[in-house]
Amino acid sequence: MEKKTFYITTPIYYPSGNMTIGHTYTTVAADTMTRFRRMQGYDTYFLTGTDEHGQKIEKKAAEAGVTPIQYVDKIVAETKELWKLMDIEYDDFIRTTEERHIKIVQKIFRQFYEQGDIYKAEYEGMYCTPCESFWTPTQLVEKDGVKVCPDCGRPCQPMREESYFFKMSKYQDWLIDYIETHPDFIQPAKRANEMLTNFLRPGLQDLCVSRTSVKWGVPVDFDEKHTVYVWIDALSNYITALGYGTEHDELFQKYWPADIHLVGKEIVRFHTIYWPIMLHALGLPLPKQVFGHGWLLFGADRMSKSKGNVVYPEPIVARYGVDPLRYYLMREMPFGADGNYTNESFLTRMNADLANDLGNLVSRTVAMIEKYFDGVLPAWTDATDPELDTPLKEHCAALPGLVGEQMDKLQFSQALAEIWKVIGECNKYIDLTQPWMLGKDPEKKDRLANVMLTLAECVRFAAVLIGPFMPSTPARIFAQLGVTDDKLKSWESLGTFGLLPAGTKVCKGEALFPRIDVNKELEALAGGKDAKEAGKEAKKAEKEEKKQEKKADKKHEEPEYPAEIPIDDFFRCKIQVARVVACEKVEKSSKLLKFRLSLGKDGERTVVSGIQKWYDPETLVGRQVAVITNLKTAKLAGIESQGMILSAMDDSGNLRLMTVEEGVEDGAIIG
Ligand code: MSP
Repeated sequence: MEKKTFYITTPIYYPSGNMTIGHTYTTVAADTMTRFRRMQGYDTYFLTGTDEHGQKIEKKAAEAGVTPIQYVDKIVAETKELWKLMDIEYDDFIRTTEERHIKIVQKIFRQFYEQGDIYKAEYEGMYCTPCESFWTPTQLVEKDGVKVCPDCGRPCQPMREESYFFKMSKYQDWLIDYIETHPDFIQPAKRANEMLTNFLRPGLQDLCVSRTSVKWGVPVDFDEKHTVYVWIDALSNYITALGYGTEHDELFQKYWPADIHLVGKEIVRFHTIYWPIMLHALGLPLPKQVFGHGWLLFGADRMSKSKGNVVYPEPIVARYGVDPLRYYLMREMPFGADGNYTNESFLTRMNADLANDLGNLVSRTVAMIEKYFDGVLPAWTDATDPELDTPLKEHCAALPGLVGEQMDKLQFSQALAEIWKVIGECNKYIDLTQPWMLGKDPEKKDRLANVMLTLAECVRFAAVLIGPFMPSTPARIFAQLGVTDDKLKSWESLGTFGLLPAGTKVCKGEALFPRIDVNKELEALAGGKDAKEAGKEAKKAEKEEKKQEKKADKKHEEPEYPAEIPIDDFFRCKIQVARVVACEKVEKSSKLLKFRLSLGKDGERTVVSGIQKWYDPETLVGRQVAVITNLKTAKLAGIESQGMILSAMDDSGNLRLMTVEEGVEDGAIIG
């Protein structure tokens, strides 16, 4: 059977400057959707590109002292780099300055003219010479009693220009009827209402579709004084890229009409009024859907260079990686609504959703399989607890359907929320089943096997489903879970719960997403450090931390003891009783706990200890411990540690703190 096709597009962006996190937002959404459909078995085609003509580009190039094509070539190269960095897998990147595009735009324009949809007339309006722009009387703004240009504030003059016009009005009733009878065509639905109420029902004006004042454009081939209006030029990209109008139009035959044009809400009008009319005039079917998503705002504003509030993805990716940013963009706001980008919300999500929820689930599951089953998945047993197991298993088995439903509506955020509900449920399941208790009782081994298998299988489901959002994370999870068979990484495999085979060897790896210190990161991001510097610093800190953690671990390795030592050697160590006044996890470390210890009359001090794996910090507050207090201080994860807490570890890796019986004062000497 032939695969069903899926064709999705982003707007083609103006390469007047580098792409921002806003452009990245649309492109990541299109890429995620493509990957999801591909995973479901569709034959997908994903188009993006650049809209390179027009006065603005001409002006920018002149300012930079280069030709327009030199100017855009550079930005296009950088745009392609950015998409590569963001793991965007497009099938084609169309540039409106390419011959394949220009030739067909000219052909389309000529066809409109020859069939009488376009006519030539005089265009009359107020003209701003410095901006080379026509304005209608209602667009002008009043300044000191004079009507001036809304862009630059300078006076405008009445002007006539010869232009070609498209008879939009001719198709107005047809379009109203089309929109009313195709409720899925414009999404979200409220945008359809806006189009009908604000533009279509009041009546369409004929559209001026050529300029004599713009030189950097596609020339009208039968009247070379004119260049084609940028929107006719730009919108055509969706079909010229597929070879429409050429001898080689196989892609067009295969993929048109597009399934989705993804666009920002400000250009819905062009895509749902001019574009459908152009297509209808060409006798072509309309795209199945135009989805107008909301804006990514920065503070209360839409990002713009002039406001100086533009956020670029590169420094964020350099510091935190691609997947967290892709996750954040798709998770933070419902697709269709506006939302705010803030560093704080990004960092908070990274900690909460990625490090805590997902990261912990994966590391806890793998660690427990290592601990209780020597790292090898056991077989399912009869020891079930329907009250605890069944709801989780059923929920997880239903997850692909729930995610699919949201993705059909492009509700990326909801789709992720569905996955995270199951992740949350798994973490709760661990608390309720208490594997550490089951692990103590050999008779409960059968029960423990099912608990581990249920968790591992849920992790597998989550890993498959997050793939379209976070392309490089599943491989890291599968490596830890020991899944090598590609079939078990597929969408089809999610049709059955419980496919992970007994004998699978898990392998604990690094934390998927290390926890970060939000305040410190906020400072670093606000400090405006450039990407490279920020990246380098993060790497250096990570290295240093690893070194120190290794040192802390060393204390549990058996040292080479001399056969005997003089008693004085022992007395060189000052060991004291200390009381834990406060204790917390060290941000960004999965091993360290930070203690505030009281030594009674000797005062308080801070000690960092690598025992996070064995103790919840809250449970230690108030306890007395034994500390070497005259050790040379050491920096662990950037914190000065003034001593070493003593503990004992057996051969199975169980660790317990050394303590003294109640009754001695804090600060007492141990010896
Ligand atoms: N060249 C036209 C589109 C022609 S399509 C036939 C254009 N280009 S643009 O460079 O201005 O890109 C606008 C698009 O970029 C928006 O519609 C949206 O997809 C994306 N975004 C740019 N900044 C954005 C935000 N701050 N928030 C959300 N989307 C943003 O218009």
